Amino acid sequence: MTHAASDSGGLAVADGPALVPVARAVDLHKVYGSGDTQVAALDGVSVEFWPGQFTAIMGPSGSGKSTLMHCLAALDSASSGSVFVGDAELTRLGDKELTRIRRDRIGFVFQAFNLVPTLTALENITLPIDIAGRKPNQAWLDTVIDTVGLRNRLDHKPSQLSGGQQQRVACARALAGRPDIVFADEPTGNLDSVAGAEVLGFLRRSVSEFGQTVVMVTHDPNAAGYADRVLFLADGRIVDEMAQPTADRVLDRMKHFDAPAARPKG
Ligand SMILES: Nc1ncnc2c1ncn2[C@@H]1O[C@H](COP(=O)(O)OP(=O)(O)O)[C@@H](O)[C@H]1O
Ligand SMILES: [Mg+2]
Repeated sequence: MTHAASDSGGLAVADGPALVPVARAVDLHKVYGSGDTQVAALDGVSVEFWPGQFTAIMGPSGSGKSTLMHCLAALDSASSGSVFVGDAELTRLGDKELTRIRRDRIGFVFQAFNLVPTLTALENITLPIDIAGRKPNQAWLDTVIDTVGLRNRLDHKPSQLSGGQQQRVACARALAGRPDIVFADEPTGNLDSVAGAEVLGFLRRSVSEFGQTVVMVTHDPNAAGYADRVLFLADGRIVDEMAQPTADRVLDRMKHFDAPAARPKG
């Protein structure tokens, strides 16, 4: 039994190099609880994330956005299905290997910043690298710090920084180790529109200028407009996808999804 033509299977890249997705999910299911209280947070999600692509994930509250990100980022495990980060299938890995993948290949930005309050901005940014026992790449670190505009705030503790500055520290922390992919779960959810635009501008530049792969959950059509494509999630499934989104087109699509009349009757 051979697996014929496995090198072309499923890769929809015409005439391009045989790229491997940075991360992908195959028929992912996640069930919480049991019996009557059972919730299918993910109900058969298959999706690929390509190098240098900025993907936004949208959908109503409870549609499974955070669950999907956590499963892709090796922060949670699925009930069934597979997650790949590059060639590594997470479900086949032990704790040690999962820790290494989380540490070396994945960056995560949380809505609530999650900085260590006793550390300075710079110490927060380099913390994952320090924990890993690695030396930071100084040139890259400088690039990241200058891109997020934190050069003159490096000695400040999080409590001495605005929300927007704290989230820019968190973004710099996520990028400092040059991960293969950065996941951001509503990174602008706690920010005003000006600070939010700065964070989004930085994520966009990390993709356009450094080829970073970014996946971002957002409720905000304007935020989604920064992405290269938008996935729409509902009830644990991907129900639509939009390429080259603009805020207006995303808003239009959301109206369609939000309208109660648009929901099929069970
Ligand atoms: N730890 C948990 N225990 C039980 N149910 C959960 C848990 N986490 C999420 N859920 C449920 O799974 C569904 C998807 O949640 P989530 O992924 O957080 O959605 P979103 O991020 O889109 O708001 C929701 O119905 C939620 O209540
Ligand atoms: Mg969520």
